[in-house]
Amino acid sequence: MTTVTKLLLPVELDLENLLTELRSLIGAGHPILQAAAEHLFSAGGKRIRPGIVLLISRAISANGELSSKHKKLAQISEMIHTASLVHDDVVDDASIRRGVQTVHNLFNHRVAVLAGDFLFAQASWHLANLENLEVVKLLSRVIMDLADGEVKQGLYRFSSEQSLSSYLEKSYCKTASLIANSSRAAGVLSELEDDKLKLLYNFGKQLGLAFQVVDDILDFTSDDKQLGKPAASDLVSGYLTAPALYALEDNPALSVLIEREFSQKGDIDRALQLVRDSNAIKKSMELAEKFTMQARESITWLEDSPYKRALLELPDYVLSRLY
Ligand code: IPE
Ligand code: IPE
Ligand code: MG
Ligand code: MG
Repeated sequence: MTTVTKLLLPVELDLENLLTELRSLIGAGHPILQAAAEHLFSAGGKRIRPGIVLLISRAISANGELSSKHKKLAQISEMIHTASLVHDDVVDDASIRRGVQTVHNLFNHRVAVLAGDFLFAQASWHLANLENLEVVKLLSRVIMDLADGEVKQGLYRFSSEQSLSSYLEKSYCKTASLIANSSRAAGVLSELEDDKLKLLYNFGKQLGLAFQVVDDILDFTSDDKQLGKPAASDLVSGYLTAPALYALEDNPALSVLIEREFSQKGDIDRALQLVRDSNAIKKSMELAEKFTMQARESITWLEDSPYKRALLELPDYVLSRLY
């Protein structure tokens, strides 16, 4: 399996400094907020979002160099992502993230809500300081989408009426919007023409959707240790993701279990088994593959470079997480 570290090798040095720079970006705040915000940065995620911004930025720059604005954009993308995780874990009441305790678990809910807000606000401040109105608009839209996505997800809890398209809309808001808009923003900072900006946006959107579908498959097929967060938790929480939605098409029995919110003994195990035994996982993989193909097609126009080659391999990396 390609590891993400190997894939992001062309921007390894850029990413190495990311953590230190993120720490200094967070700057002065109340020590509790700072400790809470730093807690997750230090646990270290895969840094895929800043990795994508950095690869695109270098791939589209005439001499392969990176401007300080592009670098800042990469940092902002990780800051927004981390803020969304802190809030998402509160909403989901999740205990573990990136293999360590979640912020609300280590501190408390109040601190986690404020720490998430603090990170979003810091990200907005640094965004404004890029002094590019178009980029500000793109990334503030992302913050709106994130909240919208959480609400959309909440509205459809335990509802077997949810369609695949509303699931994808939710996934766009919670996951793909950030990758799509920060990819586009990298192009805006380099003053690319509009058709290229649209393609960069599309690359991020399709890759983000594939990433979410894969994450949702892993929730059914992996364990806590592999994921660094609780597995088999989506269905239990009433979140119907691609595998559950496909399984529902062929198993009306599953909808009975969902609609009664797994209130009877053995309901959850039966529901998980129904999904795992159906061809829903396979169908979900095909859906993810379709998105990855579209992602790849969107960046064929980039000039050849190690950065472009890494970007072209990213869709396969996303799928390879399944094997
Ligand atoms: C987690 O994203 C949230 C989803 C979109 C599924 P990542 O899997 O990129 O999380 P980290 O940053 O590596 O922890
Ligand atoms: C992913 O949402 C995107 C976020 C904004 C956190 P999920 O709810 O699917 O992510 P996990 O499964 O908690 O990592
Ligand atoms: Mg969650
Ligand atoms: Mg999930």
